[in-house]
Amino acid sequence: MSKSDKHSKKTILSGIQPSGKLHIGNYFGAMRQHINMQNNGDAFYFLANYHSLTSVSDGKLLESYTRDVVLDYLALGLDPDKCTFFAQSDVPQTTELAWILGCLTPVSMMEKGVSYKDKVAQGLNPNIGLFTYPILQAADILIYHSDLVPVGEDQKQNIEICRDLAGKLNRAYDQELLVIPEEYIVKNVAIVPGIDGRKMSKSYDNTINIFDEGKSLKKRVMSIQTDSTALEDPKDPDSCNVFALIRLFAEKEKMEDIAVKYKEGGFGYGHAKKELLTLINDYFESAREKRKELEKDMDYVYDVLKEGGARARERAESVMEPIRSVTGLFRSFNQ
Ligand code: ADP
Ligand code: TRP
Repeated sequence: MSKSDKHSKKTILSGIQPSGKLHIGNYFGAMRQHINMQNNGDAFYFLANYHSLTSVSDGKLLESYTRDVVLDYLALGLDPDKCTFFAQSDVPQTTELAWILGCLTPVSMMEKGVSYKDKVAQGLNPNIGLFTYPILQAADILIYHSDLVPVGEDQKQNIEICRDLAGKLNRAYDQELLVIPEEYIVKNVAIVPGIDGRKMSKSYDNTINIFDEGKSLKKRVMSIQTDSTALEDPKDPDSCNVFALIRLFAEKEKMEDIAVKYKEGGFGYGHAKKELLTLINDYFESAREKRKELEKDMDYVYDVLKEGGARARERAESVMEPIRSVTGLFRSFNQ
């Protein structure tokens, strides 16, 4: 069965873990592409809350992160009429497929996993959930017969594992049960630096969160690390963390204008930070307002997930059914 026989539009799928407040690295590196691509095909976007369990073991916290991420996406422009937006845990077929894929996965393949290897190298003791994380991610993708998976460069290995596992299952049962997704690595997305100049990441506590505002946002922006060039001296915009962020938010003309000021001298890092703060506030102003409105109508928000979950389950079930049958898994209630 070819994919195009089943669904006329390409299926686009991506997920994000609700394991902390989302930051501007997440926005420019992932969310913005998801929101733009909702117009380009049959898009499925989900909250990877099973994946979050590999690092969050406080139920109340996971629930609140999940709620935050749903609000963030909707406020930033994800339109539930254009895409299927849901929680991973609303589609139990995902873990069912993950088990079957796991039974075809050599341990050595998981041992090469970058995240797993990193944890081991740091002397940590990773859990089995983290070890098999790429198998669950493969199931996320394959259970909807996804064609395109927009992700950042850091997810490349997981997509390759996914393609590999789809091929293994198809070969094992000698049928095209799963669609092998094309790689879709989001290009031209610079790694967004955090306030300390390293990659912005919640694990480094160097983030500027999308929905921070007022004093707390100002404090973060003002603490971006810069070198010690004196106010009156010329500065190099291309090696400055503040300018790297300005670049993301400013229109071309504004950006060039600020770059000229850097090079002329007499423009301090404090001035640059003020410019950045204004740019961030303007950029997210309408999303912040929308988020506050949405927060007042959580019934609507949960309905979005409910409807999305139902649509996703329906698709997942249609993919899972032939797999159950061909793998010989007995189900007494189907007899
Ligand atoms: P974190 O490092 O904060 O835990 P995640 O690993 O959960 O973030 O990333 C979620 C998504 O956001 C991924 O698709 C990743 O590519 C993207 N992303 C995260 N941090 C950055 C960054 N600093 N620059 C660009 N993209 C990022
Ligand atoms: N691993 C992804 C991340 O950390 C999240 C994720 C889980 C995902 N399942 C997925 C992304 C399936 C794309 C497709 O960003």
